[in-house]
Amino acid sequence: MDYRSDGLDDEGLPDQPFELLTRWVEQARAAGVGGFESPEGLAMSLSTVDPGGAPNVRTVLVRFLDARGLGFVTDTTSTKAREIDAEPRVAGSIGWPALFRVVRLRGVIEALDPGPLAAYFTARPWGSRIAALASHQSAPTGSRADLDALFASYAARHPDTGSPDDVPVPASWGGYRVRPWEVEFWAGRESRLHDRIVYQIDEPGGPDPTGPQAGGPAQAGPRHTERAQWPLLDEPGWRRFRRMP
Ligand SMILES: Cc1cc2nc3c(=O)[nH]c(=O)nc-3n(C[C@H](O)[C@H](O)[C@H](O)COP(=O)(O)O)c2cc1C
Repeated sequence: MDYRSDGLDDEGLPDQPFELLTRWVEQARAAGVGGFESPEGLAMSLSTVDPGGAPNVRTVLVRFLDARGLGFVTDTTSTKAREIDAEPRVAGSIGWPALFRVVRLRGVIEALDPGPLAAYFTARPWGSRIAALASHQSAPTGSRADLDALFASYAARHPDTGSPDDVPVPASWGGYRVRPWEVEFWAGRESRLHDRIVYQIDEPGGPDPTGPQAGGPAQAGPRHTERAQWPLLDEPGWRRFRRMP
């Protein structure tokens, strides 16, 4: 099978990745495909490492997307949250297989402001608010019947009154933003001569630009200890280059 997307020509590429990412998201929406074909929206595979350094991965929905990064909501006591807390460097991937397009990113996590997140919670359907309150995400649990009984007990305590505050915001309700320091756009082309356009933050202390361009090993990215200073810059500079397919 030949992959035939529109590709990524060098002309017309923006100076920073978020413009291109937004363009791709809009084009996917117009074509009727969500990230990884999720009917609900922009699904992203989010990869973390556990305390032993072993990779882990799960799907989250990107609900906030702007020039700062990609935000999602979750339970702050979940496995992912505990892994993020110990090691905030993460990787993500959003794909639109039908369009032969994938975005791959590496970055650092920051917590989202609780105020807008609480407002976001109250806008959700009653049932999903009850589920969020009842569930301690990732904790081992019993049977399906146990889970349904737990839901029912919370539902009885907080009946659906049609009001946005009939269910309290769970203490563990939270969200994170991936602040990428590297974003790669992959577009499938004929004869497997695919396009790979990479954006990397171009700041002192940033990743070594000679690594990938020279065909060397993948660069290490910011060290854990540097995360408070870098790359959480409001308007970072970006370098752009092309990788071999
Ligand atoms: C399409 C899709 C979207 C999802 N979106 C989210 C989400 O936005 N936030 C979330 O916490 N879990 C989401 N999940 C569930 C996660 O994939 C995962 O099961 C859960 O977060 C627990 O992961 P953890 O044990 O690594 O913390 C989604 C799953 C799917 C299939």
